[in-house]
Amino acid sequence: MKKCFVPICLLVIILSSCSKDEYIDITEEEQLLVNDENNDTVVDDNEENTNDLAVDSSILALPDSPFNYANILLPDFFLDNDVRNEDITPNNNEITDNGATLGRVLFYDNNLSRNNTISCASCHIQEHGFSDPTALSTGFDGELTSRNSMGLANARFYENERFFWDERAASLEEQTLVPIQDLVEMGLTLPELEAKLSVVDYYEALFTNAFGDDNVTSERIALALSQFIPSMVSYESKFDEGLSQVQDIDDNFPNFTDSENRGKQLFMSNQTRCFDCHATNVFVGDAARNNGLDATITDPGVGGITGNNNDLGEFKVPSLRNIALTGPYMHDGRFETLEEVIEHYNSGVQNNPNLDNRLTQGNNVRRLNLSDNDKQALVDFLHTLTDTEFITDEKYADPFIED
Ligand code: HEC
Ligand code: HEC
Repeated sequence: MKKCFVPICLLVIILSSCSKDEYIDITEEEQLLVNDENNDTVVDDNEENTNDLAVDSSILALPDSPFNYANILLPDFFLDNDVRNEDITPNNNEITDNGATLGRVLFYDNNLSRNNTISCASCHIQEHGFSDPTALSTGFDGELTSRNSMGLANARFYENERFFWDERAASLEEQTLVPIQDLVEMGLTLPELEAKLSVVDYYEALFTNAFGDDNVTSERIALALSQFIPSMVSYESKFDEGLSQVQDIDDNFPNFTDSENRGKQLFMSNQTRCFDCHATNVFVGDAARNNGLDATITDPGVGGITGNNNDLGEFKVPSLRNIALTGPYMHDGRFETLEEVIEHYNSGVQNNPNLDNRLTQGNNVRRLNLSDNDKQALVDFLHTLTDTEFITDEKYADPFIED
């Protein structure tokens, strides 16, 4: 410590205090997270809720007091630093219950598309882990998207803080306005969007409750959607129950079958190295990687955005939460089943100059040599990440009475 060069010390202090400030005082954060036992309709102590305007109940089925989005009671293992470091929720757009409620209505509202035919939820379907069961999704005018829709469970956690398969959006606020303006997806300009929503009756109350007045701006729309999406935390899967029981991910989970426990060990092993890319208790990546889908790059991925050849064929490592529900898999939906995904890693990885070194051995592709039982065990383990509470939870569901 004595040798610590003063400017370096200062730099370290400044960096740690500005970037991860909110993670330092764990007890304060924990308090915040545990002050709501029943974890649902309880209103937070935020005064904004006391004067809430009522929303037309013949159109929208919303609870009298908003659902709890801001202070969700997470298990302890979501509070460890590995997971906290992945959390992308910015300080300047903290989740409030009314903000996320507005975000929920926007997410399910067909008014966000040019011809009132689709909403965000058309391609991000709750029962499919907020993904789309078709390889490519259909936009407002019947055209297909160029990539597979992404599941949104735990999209909140991603160290690189970027969004889309090719990481072209630098924040969630930026991301949320992209599909609205996309010519295939929803097809509106931002001025058209604002003009359109300004004359929809229920937004008067919803914007006022969330932001203090009924001014409809695209910035507020982005903020509200960016409160709703990070509130979608999946933490009640069989895996979570098991980890709560033993606390150590390396131990066998009493609630798992032998095959599920075997799959968990394999997932974390040096033989597969799955856990080196789909890391932490939330199973997310830290940055985009090339997992050897193609020997010759067809979709440039991150390289198409950065213009850097070393990034060609690299894609965001998505969270594996609810993965059994979000097929087909990969950025182009090329694999129908998890069995096919496992076989890809076992024997199908294609060598290419950007292949991640976790999947190589010297200059060659590393083959995993998994037995049939091993492959089944990995699939069984991935199924333990399914969270039926999350995919049926009303607070993330369609609030529109008629659609
Ligand atoms: C027509 C289908 C469609 C619609 C409508 C749509 N999305 Fe998407 N969404 C996609 C596809 C496809 C991707 C992946 C695109 C890519 O990476 O190039 C995606 C990606 C995302 C991501 C990135 C997730 C991540 O982990 O990086 C978020 C967040 C998202 N959508 C939210 C929304 C919101 C909010 C709306 C409504 C405003 C919306 N989507 C409307 C199809 C759609
Ligand atoms: C080198 C890092 C790396 C390793 C190791 C790795 N993955 Fe992946 N994984 C990725 C990337 C990157 C993607 C997204 C690729 C794409 O769509 O182009 C992905 C995608 C997936 C998907 C599909 C996700 C979706 O939403 O479509 C599954 C399932 C998956 N991996 C499981 C595994 C399993 C199981 C293992 C171990 C056998 C593993 N991964 C090892 C990087 C890795």
